[in-house]
Amino acid sequence: MALPRGATKEIEPRVIADPEVVRGEILAARQAGRRVGFVPTMGSLHAGHVSLVDRAADACDEVAVSIFVNPTQFGPGEDFERYPRDLTADLAMLAGQNVRWVYAPAAETIYPLGHATRIVVDGPARRFEGEARRSHFSGVATVVCRLFHDVPADVAYFGAKDWQQTIVVKRLVADLGLPIEIIVCPTVREPDGLAMSSRNVYLTVAERQQAVGLSESLRLAEVLWEDGLSPEEVANDMKKHLRSRGIAVDYAAVVDAETLGPAVDPAPAVALVAGRFGTTRLIDNCLLPGRDDQGPSIGWDL
Ligand code: PAJ
Repeated sequence: MALPRGATKEIEPRVIADPEVVRGEILAARQAGRRVGFVPTMGSLHAGHVSLVDRAADACDEVAVSIFVNPTQFGPGEDFERYPRDLTADLAMLAGQNVRWVYAPAAETIYPLGHATRIVVDGPARRFEGEARRSHFSGVATVVCRLFHDVPADVAYFGAKDWQQTIVVKRLVADLGLPIEIIVCPTVREPDGLAMSSRNVYLTVAERQQAVGLSESLRLAEVLWEDGLSPEEVANDMKKHLRSRGIAVDYAAVVDAETLGPAVDPAPAVALVAGRFGTTRLIDNCLLPGRDDQGPSIGWDL
């Protein structure tokens, strides 16, 4: 039945497990002149993921979301087994979001028997998460490359919440000449400042209260940075704050926002933090504007 003029039709996403089918549909849509946006996820969707989907739906004609809990980016003893998986709840989160395709492949599809190819990114993948979780970024790079092949979109959306991941993915795309644009979107937070994360469900009530210390340390970093303190001074005060909250700090650092190497004043920097709460490990970050900036920083679409 024809819709009244101006009315938008709510589309039900098509859930596809077969890479050739999803690839065929996306190539056909692009052939027909449709701009396709892609949001890769591991499911357990929350408002942070939905913000990426919104952004894609605003800028593109069609949106694809992938849901795949990628085993190779979890280290031994990490939370791969207990990572929350609920496709029905995820599809409910995506209802009314104008998502055309949900690509949800089986593990054996992405990693067939005998799979032996890994992509290793050096440089920005080396420190921080790369140090704390040794094979994490090679797992991310390997799966993202495969997902970009199966879902050959015009543009992919990533969250600033995982800042180092965005830098690693941009490096991967540049180094392999992958024909996709990467857009980084702002971190969505709970009202008290805690960054939304699929892992927040692991926290006990006491740990949840403690976890707000991560974003508090970032607010502190913003103030101290604005006051002109050096990267080391800012990082030290962040650590002090985190420890005063009883948080086991994996790292707290202020580095160059693009290279993740030493911060070079007055270039924009990023404050990165990782802490442990019982068996749960959480990360967060905030961008610190270049100190000679007159207005919103250029180059970041945040
Ligand atoms: P996942 O943790 O499910 O996150 C999917 C995307 O959502 C990532 O780009 C992440 O940065 C973004 N995201 C998560 N929490 C967010 C928040 N609070 N605000 C805004 N964006 C947020 O990141 C991964 O999955 C995987 O590593 C993946 C890229 C899918 C590869 O397996």
